[in-house]
Amino acid sequence: MVDNQHWLDRWKENRIGFHEPAVNQHLKDQLPQFSLNPGASVFMPLCGKAHDIAWLAAQGYQVIGIELSSLAIESFFEENSLGFQSFENDRFVLYKSGLINLMQGDFFDLRKEDLADCSFVYDRAALIAMDQSQRPRYYQHMNSILPVSEMLLITLEYDQEEMPGPPYSVPENEVLDHYAENYSIDMLERNNVIDERPRWRKVGMTWLNESVYRLTPVASHESAR
Ligand SMILES: C[S@@+](CC[C@H](N)C(=O)[O-])C[C@H]1O[C@@H](n2cnc3c(N)ncnc32)[C@H](O)[C@@H]1O
Repeated sequence: MVDNQHWLDRWKENRIGFHEPAVNQHLKDQLPQFSLNPGASVFMPLCGKAHDIAWLAAQGYQVIGIELSSLAIESFFEENSLGFQSFENDRFVLYKSGLINLMQGDFFDLRKEDLADCSFVYDRAALIAMDQSQRPRYYQHMNSILPVSEMLLITLEYDQEEMPGPPYSVPENEVLDHYAENYSIDMLERNNVIDERPRWRKVGMTWLNESVYRLTPVASHESAR
């Protein structure tokens, strides 16, 4: 099982192959199709130092991120030449810069009230950072803390026998099993990207689907809140 120390060590040792060199193309392509109001708050679970954070803020959205590693968060501000203020509470260190609010701490310590203002969720490489034994808890926690909000979810699917992970393979039926009660789920794209990831080909993977989902809250989820 990949524990919190694994991720802290990866940041310390700069083993961050998951960090994309530019803003995620699916985010750019798909965001206009969602119904975000100007100035809406976007929640990014397990946000790392993704360029997506600064891009969303540049579009005028508030960004609320949670990330275990202070190194990741401080690198984000440094690399984007952004000053920040930091405050500490009993669960998190809060870093604030303009529209960007990053919480350093454990995702599983987040409470519903922390995300009360959020109206959109962007999950890229968060769900797939959890192994099969951790994911039921991840879904359960997401379902219990998220306000009624649309979600853009990006996952990977591959033969888990071909690579141990992380990132882990998350099959479509698992996403449906855990989110379909609260969301209607549309797969927007599913592309075999193995030819674009020679690193994965080299470790023996023969196929790698990147799947992009749109999750829309269903009425029962809305009325239950
Ligand atoms: C695969 S990376 C993805 C980062 C980011 N979403 C991106 O697209 O670059 C997963 C991140 O989650 C963080 N992480 C792992 N477990 C966490 C937890 N329980 N709470 C908060 N962050 C966590 C790791 O430090 C790592 O930065």
